[in-house]
Amino acid sequence: MSKELKVKHIACIGAGYVGGPTMAVIAQKCPDIKVTVVDMNEQRIAAWNDANLDNLPIYEPGLAEVVAEARNRNLFFSTDVDGAIAAADMIFISVNTPTKTYGIGKGMAADLKYVELCARQIARVATSDKIVVEKSTLPVRTAQSIRTILDAENKGLQFQVLSNPEFLAEGTAVQDLHQPDRVLIGGGQDQAGQAAVQALVDIYARWVDRERIITTNVWSSELSKLTANAFLAQRVSSINAISALCEKSGADVDEIARAIGKDSRIGPKFLKASVGFGGSCFQKDILNLVYIARSYGLTEVADYWEQVIKMNDYQKRRFAENIVSKLFNTVSGKKIAILGWAFKKDTNDTRESAAIYVADYLLNEQAELWVYDPKVKAEQVYADLDYLNTRSEAENRRLVKVVNDPYQAMDDAHAVAILTEWDEFKTYDWQKVYEGMKKPAFLFDGRNVVSSPALLGLGFKYIGIGHCVS
Ligand code: UDX
Ligand code: UDX
Repeated sequence: MSKELKVKHIACIGAGYVGGPTMAVIAQKCPDIKVTVVDMNEQRIAAWNDANLDNLPIYEPGLAEVVAEARNRNLFFSTDVDGAIAAADMIFISVNTPTKTYGIGKGMAADLKYVELCARQIARVATSDKIVVEKSTLPVRTAQSIRTILDAENKGLQFQVLSNPEFLAEGTAVQDLHQPDRVLIGGGQDQAGQAAVQALVDIYARWVDRERIITTNVWSSELSKLTANAFLAQRVSSINAISALCEKSGADVDEIARAIGKDSRIGPKFLKASVGFGGSCFQKDILNLVYIARSYGLTEVADYWEQVIKMNDYQKRRFAENIVSKLFNTVSGKKIAILGWAFKKDTNDTRESAAIYVADYLLNEQAELWVYDPKVKAEQVYADLDYLNTRSEAENRRLVKVVNDPYQAMDDAHAVAILTEWDEFKTYDWQKVYEGMKKPAFLFDGRNVVSSPALLGLGFKYIGIGHCVS
């Protein structure tokens, strides 16, 4: 029997889209455990502590309620990283691991510098035994490096490193955390490792059925996260590949998705054809998987997964090219409304959003873009475009207007392009929109959200994904 460990104080480094909601739910479900979420970004911590819950740094349905229940009871947000590390017996590392932008593995490998910094900081500050939990998505075998750094200080302390990848999807984070399909915990196979695994199992078991809590070795856990994201992204690229074929052949991609999704071996989820997947994870994690496979000399494996990304790039480009070609091969000086900037509905996150790349393509063609998104702020839209470095910041501001009123964005436009599947788009007065637009009025629906027969009757030139053009 392994020695029983009871966790009393959790620290989490990184108050982002993963660390924030995850820790809020752990605190909500475990009122007897003190949970301190720390971040080096003062502004972000101030927003987490804002009395007005509308100002939380992350928009997620249901999150404000969870934070309201637990904050300042047993959930705390702070910039005192050293203090939180010192006090905690379990520390989650939830910092970002972006794709490297320099050196070896540039554009492919995950940049682990923040994770290493966390490990070094824990090693330096710790004066008691710690269980360190990898919450960030990490390449397989990262736990080994963390362990080596922790042990190098030689303080005579016991460190255990667990892998506990987070599978929440943005927009449904709170629901996914409350009712996860599974919780995955990887740990050392020796007695001390298993005791640490059990301590984390006991936390989740407060609200998750034990049969949904899977324990594995560390490497399987780390690689499962990359594999899950690769499989999910692959389904989107697969249906998107078929959407291109539908547009040529007269088949309808949504009908195909319905037909194949009924096969229980395939299943109905993640078969929605779109302008392309975005988000902070899919592309980054697949590039990382490809990089790892290549570094082991597994060329065929690497090429296989890389194709998922290539198909996604093709889909985004194809959508943008289609807009230009349908608008009589020129969009120069033409007003085009962009509805939706977030990478999916119900989030304010724009990382790797297809909208950024479609907009950039249209701006290269000198279009005049009017952007509306219900949750994304103007500064974010400009920051995303500036980050690409395709043109000057002044040019981006001259060519792109961000407005709070969708009707203003669409008024007098040559075309509307829907890039995020926000529910509110279905409820617009499309008759009024049509009347206000230049004719012919084009509607490019990158999410197939407003393709109702009533709409088609209004006179729009409607171009969805994976349908024959009307
Ligand atoms: C998620 C996953 O956790 C990660 O594995 C994946 O690589 C990217 O997506 P996420 O929570 O979405 O991360 O990232 P982000 O919202 O950027 O939050 C990370 C936070 O860590 C930021 O608030 C940043 O300020 C903080 N951070 C980063 C630190 O506090 N210290 C550091 O050294 C680095
Ligand atoms: C994903 C995984 O789902 C989650 O388990 C993991 O922890 C993090 O990465 P997320 O990126 O937040 O979550 O959102 P997800 O719902 O997976 O959507 C990713 C992208 O794929 C979005 O741009 C979405 O619009 C797109 N998508 C998804 C489609 O285009 N079609 C689909 O059928 C499903």
